[in-house]
Amino acid sequence: MAAVKQIREAGTAAALANHETIDLAKRHLVQPWPYAGEIGAEARSLISGGEGIYITDGEGKRLIDGPAGMWCVNVGHRREELARVMYDQAMQLSYNTPWYTMNEPSAVLAERIAAYAPGDLNHVFFTTGGSTAVESALRFMQFFNNARGRSEKKLILSRGGAYHGSTYLSASLNGRPRDRDWMDGADELVVKLSSPDAFRRPKGMSVAAFADMLVAEFEATVLRVGADKIGAFIGEPVQASGGVILPPENYLRRIRKICRDNEILFIADEVVTAFGRLGHVFASQDVFDIDPDIITFAKGVTSGYFPLGGMVISERLLEELRRSNHPTAMYAHGLTYTSHPVGCAVALTNLDLLENGILTHAQNVAPYFQQQLKTLEDLPLVGEVRGIGLMACVECVADRESKNPLQLDTNVGMRIDRHCHELGLLVRPLINMCVMSPPLVITRDQIDDMVGILREGISRTMDDLRHEGVWQG
Ligand SMILES: Cc1ncc(COP(=O)(O)O)c(C=O)c1O
Repeated sequence: MAAVKQIREAGTAAALANHETIDLAKRHLVQPWPYAGEIGAEARSLISGGEGIYITDGEGKRLIDGPAGMWCVNVGHRREELARVMYDQAMQLSYNTPWYTMNEPSAVLAERIAAYAPGDLNHVFFTTGGSTAVESALRFMQFFNNARGRSEKKLILSRGGAYHGSTYLSASLNGRPRDRDWMDGADELVVKLSSPDAFRRPKGMSVAAFADMLVAEFEATVLRVGADKIGAFIGEPVQASGGVILPPENYLRRIRKICRDNEILFIADEVVTAFGRLGHVFASQDVFDIDPDIITFAKGVTSGYFPLGGMVISERLLEELRRSNHPTAMYAHGLTYTSHPVGCAVALTNLDLLENGILTHAQNVAPYFQQQLKTLEDLPLVGEVRGIGLMACVECVADRESKNPLQLDTNVGMRIDRHCHELGLLVRPLINMCVMSPPLVITRDQIDDMVGILREGISRTMDDLRHEGVWQG
């Protein structure tokens, strides 16, 4: 109680000692993705500050922010420009109802985003984050087909390894088994396809043949289910949380064509890949040469300084709806915080920062980032290092022949993370993988530090596993 009184008096949580914060969290805070046995009673690493590519933990230890928060702090921590614009916009206009009023930052931001989007994607609907962006896109597809008198055409194709969010419909699309094992979903609305994970392709098959297999599966699914029943395909250009799964060459373009031929909307979920992660504002066209019908985005649009997401929609789709001029059909969808003026103002300044050097820097430094991480493949625990732009994954395997991750599922990623934390690096552990996606402002020297620590963290983990007799690599 003394601690709570202290916060009230100081008006800020910074007044607390670490153990007091941890104690409050354990007693009152429900954290995301908890196991049942720990729900509402869990202490996670306390982070108390950030600057550039670094964060500071509760003990005052400085760490490289390997995952840039959750793939989002693209311009780095503690950017004064972003803090100031937040303050200025809040003092100018902190909120307005988007139901029957509008604000300037959202209109200006929509225009700037539209200018970067491929093809005829020139209208933006703003949300509060990625899940709501995906939800908005899917509900738009449903509305679009209802309004066109095609109420049967609403199934959604999604892939193994995908992550699209935590709201009911977006979560129903998720393809990582543990995301769905204990949770319900709108399964009747979703048809699942294979993950494009070339590392785990059938033994002896070339990557090109694997791509053919994925495309053939897609075609067969459209035939089996019926194009008149399928409203949309949704895919991350690079599956992020699935372990940085890169699409085989030309695979996305081939899927795009099948979608176009069958009037299936192609939704590119660029929640991670947009706003600089791959060196461009959007990756769909600039990196993968595809022009989706809808692109969803979030995270990097404000570099995580304010919760904002959205979708960019094709003019053709909107024009079709406008022409139908249906007297009662309404896209009955919107959020209290749609087009939030503070979020949109932050995004405008964030975009200035990206345009004024950070995108170019990300493009320049990305090859070095990939090259240096690739050197970790000489460690026997590492099965593959893969990546693109400033996102990469170090996948650990029990042995390279069988690529068996099972024995090491005893949280090898967590083990590496623990060692790296001691050494000054936060990694994003994902079962047997470590995902790296640092702030885009990372320099070559900082990349050397990051890779050096990761090497030492993996080496220490290998020693532990050998000592415990779990692994003999
Ligand atoms: C590709 C993708 N889509 C959607 C989401 C959901 O975004 P949010 O957590 O902002 O709701 C995520 C989150 O990691 C994501 O990676």
